[in-house]
Amino acid sequence: MSVTSSDSASHSGALEGSSAALEGSNAKRGLWSSRLAFILAATGSAVGLGNIWKFPYVTGENGGGAFVLVYLLCIAIVGIPIMMAEVMIGRRGGYSPVKSLSQIAERDRLKPAWKLVGAVGILAGFLILSFYSVIGGWAISYVGTTASGQLSGQSADAVGAIFSGLLSDPTTLLAWHTLFMALVMVVVVRGVRSGLERAVSILMPALFVLLLIVVGYAMTTGHFGQAAAFLFQPDFSKLTTSGILVALGHAFFTLSLGMAVMMAYGSYLPKNISIAKTSITVSVIDTGVALLAGLAIFPIVFANGLEPGAGPGLIFQTLPLAFGQMPMGSFFGTLFFVLLVFAAWTSGISLLEPIVEWLEERKGMNRTVSTLGAGIVCWALGIASILSLNLWADFAPLGFVPMLEGKTIFDLLDFFTANIMLPLGGLLVALFAGWVMSRQAMEKELALSPGMFNLWLITVRFVTPVAVAVVFIYNLM
Ligand code: PFF
Repeated sequence: MSVTSSDSASHSGALEGSSAALEGSNAKRGLWSSRLAFILAATGSAVGLGNIWKFPYVTGENGGGAFVLVYLLCIAIVGIPIMMAEVMIGRRGGYSPVKSLSQIAERDRLKPAWKLVGAVGILAGFLILSFYSVIGGWAISYVGTTASGQLSGQSADAVGAIFSGLLSDPTTLLAWHTLFMALVMVVVVRGVRSGLERAVSILMPALFVLLLIVVGYAMTTGHFGQAAAFLFQPDFSKLTTSGILVALGHAFFTLSLGMAVMMAYGSYLPKNISIAKTSITVSVIDTGVALLAGLAIFPIVFANGLEPGAGPGLIFQTLPLAFGQMPMGSFFGTLFFVLLVFAAWTSGISLLEPIVEWLEERKGMNRTVSTLGAGIVCWALGIASILSLNLWADFAPLGFVPMLEGKTIFDLLDFFTANIMLPLGGLLVALFAGWVMSRQAMEKELALSPGMFNLWLITVRFVTPVAVAVVFIYNLM
């Protein structure tokens, strides 16, 4: 059992366990039993499809090195400080995100309008989950595809055809999407995280090792150097303003920031644990997984003459090739996709949890009703993303806006959540921490040296808001 709790009625779902005598508002709710438990849960949320599915394809679409550099900068100067702010707000407030923010606002005599920060996040999580679950469904489907052995020795064209076949079949996509959403709902409804955390502690390292195995295979393709150069040699002529927006948005997406997830988790973090160290640890692990995924995939892309900018299908068109060619490929491939599903699952849970908590706390629904309600509406919305891949592939509802030309519903959901809502949520968090919360309270929570505290404060006060604002304004122009 990684978490202890005495389950207050309003916040009983997330964690379960025995009661503990603890001080402050957390006394009613229980805390993570250790720093490790928090890191596991936060890593479980952060590491997901964003790292393995999305990072390689957006990197490919945006020309490689320069994009990666901007992304890394965003992680370092925006992501980590915001993660610290979120965890701090959560721990200081001690409740679910919406309640934490309004509690702090009340306690520190601030405007309850800051509740909005939590509200934006809850909506973003809900919208993200609708398409995230569809991609989670692809991953589930590939467990079977690799296990069946049909990939072995296949050409790039054949592997591509298998993937196109999946996309063109709404019924199959719907079935896998339904299964993924059901997996997420089952865990959220039962509110049992402890088993999952134990699983994360085994499966995440396993995923890491499998990625290393694929990287090892990728080194034998003869195109590893080309891939490394593609990822790490910045060519700024390939970087566009919209690429910068995508890099910023992806930094938020991959670290699960801007939607109050880390706030929710922070509310369970014991007071004596360093927020800075844990935030940095989670961010480094998350970034490491993404870079490894890049090093696994791009050598295969170049070795097979594939297109780096192939889009959302990139990993499903490259990794199966590797598994089709390497020794014991069916075994490793199956295991890889199982682990990918698991990584997506733990992230999916953290996307649904905030809205379920909100329905419980604010609308007085019980956990089963709120999970079923939110989950089913989200599932239904996912159908629009499924149809965007086939029957509605040419339907671009906002195509009249130059920036959104040709974007399907699926593309729009991804664009608005990752590139607009999450950075906006992050901006509000930065403003709340930088300008609204009491300095004394923050010094106490963060327990940094004065120099480090000031550096952090300057970042959330000025650097993050200006960075987000500049990227937004440039893209609007
Ligand atoms: N960070 C997850 C990933 O990279 O797959 C996605 C995600 C989870 C985003 C939870 C936001 C969130 F709140």
